[in-house]
Amino acid sequence: NPTGTELRAEIDRLRKERNAVILAHYYQKPELQDLADFVGDSLELSRKAADTDADVIAFCGVKFMADTAKILSPEKIVVLPDMDAGCSLEDSCPPQKFKAFREAHPDHVALTYINCSTEVKALSDIIVTSSSAETIISQIPKDQPIIFGPDRHLGGYLNRKFGRDMLLWPGVCIVHEAFSEKELLKLKAQNPGAPVAAHPECPPTIIDHADYVGSTSGILNYAKTMPGDTLIVATEPHIIHQMEKALPMKRFIGAPGADGNCNCNICPYMALNTMEKLYACLRDLEPRIEIEEGLRLKAKQSLDRMLEMAS
Ligand code: 13P
Ligand code: SF4
Repeated sequence: NPTGTELRAEIDRLRKERNAVILAHYYQKPELQDLADFVGDSLELSRKAADTDADVIAFCGVKFMADTAKILSPEKIVVLPDMDAGCSLEDSCPPQKFKAFREAHPDHVALTYINCSTEVKALSDIIVTSSSAETIISQIPKDQPIIFGPDRHLGGYLNRKFGRDMLLWPGVCIVHEAFSEKELLKLKAQNPGAPVAAHPECPPTIIDHADYVGSTSGILNYAKTMPGDTLIVATEPHIIHQMEKALPMKRFIGAPGADGNCNCNICPYMALNTMEKLYACLRDLEPRIEIEEGLRLKAKQSLDRMLEMAS
C-alpha cells in the first residue's frame, strides 16, 4: 500500500497529466482539503466548476455537487471519488413526489436548495445555496407564494428572517439535525462569552442560540472577525481544519451531539471520499458523472437563475 506522501505525489502527477482541477468542500477530510486546488462552500464550488478551463474536475464533495459541476460544465469530465457520497436532503426528496408537490401548488414559485437531485433541479424555478438564499429571496416579491424544498430548517429560518410563509418540504440534514440543545447550553456555560456560529441547516433549537448564522464560507469569515478568541461551531466539524489554519491563535470547538462530543456530526457521505479513491478516480477517470442532455438543460435553467440573482 502506498504511503500518504506517495499518494499525494501520484495525485499531483495525475492532476498535471490530465489537466485536472481538484475542488473540495469544507466538510472533506483535512488531507483532501489540503490537496485541493480550491476549497469552498456550495456556491463558490459551483462558480469554480462553471469557470474552470481544466479538462477534468475531480470533485471532493457529495454527488449533488459533482452533478452541479457537470450541469454547468458539460464538456468537462467530472469524477467523484465515491458515487455513494449522497446526501440525506437529496434522499428525502424523490423527483416524482416533488413533482406532485409542485403540481399541487401551480401558482407558487419553486425555490429549491442545491442539496437535491438533478431531476428536482429540473422541476424547480430557482436554486439557492445557504450563502445565496437571503439575497435571492429578497428579490422575490412579498406577495409571490413560494414552495421551498428539501430542507425544512433552512426554509423555516428564511421564513422567520424574511417574514415569509413558504410551504416547506419536510427534509432535514441528518448531520445538523444531530446537534443537542442541552449539550450546547452546557458547552456555552463552560465557555462564557464564546459566540456560536451555526449553519442554517440546524434546527431552530440550535439557531436560537447562534450569534451568527450562515454558509460554511460565511462561518469561516465570521471566525476572522468575531469577538474574543473562542468560537463554538455548529456545523460539520471538518470546517474547523480551515479555521485552525487561518487563525492558529484562536480556539474552535465543535458543537456537541446528544453524547456530548462532535464526532456524531461528521457527515457520513462526505467521509466516503478518501485519498486512495481520489487517486483512483484521477487514474481511471471513473466513476464519472453523466447526465442526459434534455434533463441537464432543464436543471441548468434554475441553476443559471441562481448564479444571476446571487451576483
Ligand atoms: P454550504 O457549504 O453551501 O454552506 O453547504 C453546506 C452543506 O451542507 C453542503 O452539503
Ligand atoms: Fe447532506 Fe448534511 Fe452531509 Fe451536507 S452535511 S452533504 S446536507 S447530509
